[in-house]
Amino acid sequence: MKKIEAIIQPHKLEDVKEALKDIGIDGQTISEVRGHGRQKGHKEVYRGMEYTVDLLPKVKIEVVVPDARCEEVVGALARAARTGQIGDGKIFVLEVADAVRIRNDDRGDAAL
Ligand SMILES: Nc1ncnc2c1ncn2[C@@H]1O[C@H](COP(=O)(O)OP(=O)(O)OP(=O)(O)O)[C@@H](O)[C@H]1O
Ligand SMILES: [Mg+2]
Repeated sequence: MKKIEAIIQPHKLEDVKEALKDIGIDGQTISEVRGHGRQKGHKEVYRGMEYTVDLLPKVKIEVVVPDARCEEVVGALARAARTGQIGDGKIFVLEVADAVRIRNDDRGDAAL
């Protein structure tokens, strides 16, 4: 199994959720996070004063999928989240050792 962690622009969340639903991915965890990439945030003017805003709001989506579906899901996430502008986000893929459905002890792919 693989865990796909996508950090995306918050306004792309609905498009991304729709794309996952379209390919039959049900389980997911969504969090509101803050971060920056290589531009290290940017400067913003608020009430005439310039502030350095170095952590921008992003949304993190975590999806654990069987190995065989990983590329398909990464592709769907990237297509749905892309605007072509800086700050579009990033996708990380991690190995997952096991999964357990707490209700009935299903393990591995069966627990997803
Ligand atoms: N190396 C990293 N490790 C962990 N999180 C990261 C990393 N790079 C980016 N992120 C997360 O992804 C968000 C979006 O990153 P961003 O798309 O700006 O990356 P970038 O490398 O600067 O690419 P771009 O040039 O397209 O902006 C960041 O706010 C941060 O939360
Ligand atoms: Mg950036």
